Amino acid sequence: MLTAEGPAPVDVRVASGSVAAVGRNLDSAGAELLDCAGAWVGPGLVDLHTHLREPGQEWKEDVDSGTRAAAAGGYTAVVAMPNTDPPTDAGHLARFVVERGAATGRCDVAPAGTVSLGREGRQLAHLDELWAAGARIFTDDGDAVADAGLLRRALEYVAELGGVLAQHAEDPALVAGGHMHEGEVSSRLGMAGRPAVAETITLARDLALVRMTGARYHLLHATTAAALELVAAAKDDGLPVTVEVTPHHLFFDHTAVAGTDPAFKVNPPLRTPADVAALRAGVRSGLVDTVATDHAPHADHEKDVPFEEAPPGMIGLETAAAAVHTAVQLDIVTFYDRLSTRPAHIAGLPAHGAPIAPGVPANLCVFDPAETWQPQRFESRSQNSPFRGLQLTGRPRYTIYQGAVTYADGKVQS
Ligand code: DOR
Repeated sequence: MLTAEGPAPVDVRVASGSVAAVGRNLDSAGAELLDCAGAWVGPGLVDLHTHLREPGQEWKEDVDSGTRAAAAGGYTAVVAMPNTDPPTDAGHLARFVVERGAATGRCDVAPAGTVSLGREGRQLAHLDELWAAGARIFTDDGDAVADAGLLRRALEYVAELGGVLAQHAEDPALVAGGHMHEGEVSSRLGMAGRPAVAETITLARDLALVRMTGARYHLLHATTAAALELVAAAKDDGLPVTVEVTPHHLFFDHTAVAGTDPAFKVNPPLRTPADVAALRAGVRSGLVDTVATDHAPHADHEKDVPFEEAPPGMIGLETAAAAVHTAVQLDIVTFYDRLSTRPAHIAGLPAHGAPIAPGVPANLCVFDPAETWQPQRFESRSQNSPFRGLQLTGRPRYTIYQGAVTYADGKVQS
């Protein structure tokens, strides 16, 4: 178990939604017992990047099905991305997401707000209203905030509020019409590409504005070694910059697209083996703050079309912990640091991410690092996973949210 003093082979007792006691051979009279033998016990996982699709695209996912997937994946909090229909660009829309999340009782659903009205990249969204409704992360994810003037104003505003601006760093002009990483595989397929430089150009420009404004900046789904070098230099300079990578960018490279299976189509795209190695090294070293799912549900009828016509994105909540563990093999301390503690801190979620100690809210993830399994069906309403049928090592055994078991031994509890 991950305690405040580090890993230790101890029991934990939960009562009234909080950790009541931690120690050896605790009295279990009258308690419901969860067998955690051979497993890690730590804080519930926190995802900075979940597309719940509600309102507006409920045939792909909604808050209910998405939080079922979250519980099955070991998550006790998710940040709901605002590229819904309508986009979350005003207070009432963020409140809707919060209320829908609270009604499920399965995990905290924290709203992210858009940067621009309608995600159109022209005028600022109602950032103050979004903040008042609980948004701490502001992003036009799905698209970059391309206009440097708008981004500057957004950074200034978000800095004043105390929030984080999260950027989808792909220069729109450079990726227009592209479907995959621009490189030898795209050349062979004759498919229009999205060059790696689209990420670094956007990031380099953004970092100049971060230096100017002092705003907190989070790089969403980083994919290239070059981007991580820029982040490392920015962090060395003391800029308030954090970065996430996704499980799929840690697991697959652009050769996975050679068969043109739309399950592997995603923005930003799967990159080169050298990029994958750099992302893995970054997660191990801690240069990469967190692994975030970019859980992006799309229905079968949308994905089962020619690669060029398919929407980008893949689900990830239910396989993220296993994919990370299989690809990177973290120890118990780094596992919970990258998947819980740091994302909870970035999103401003104090009820999550702390090591297990008396008085801490009982938001927990019990993860078996040795179980091998092959994901087949998902709780998510959409099944667009590139991990289906692959052998993964490590699997959540129990998820506990506010002291209640939300997931146990392969089943969501309610
Ligand atoms: O592949 C993606 N799909 N990348 C994004 O940034 C957005 C996401 C979606 O919403 O489907």
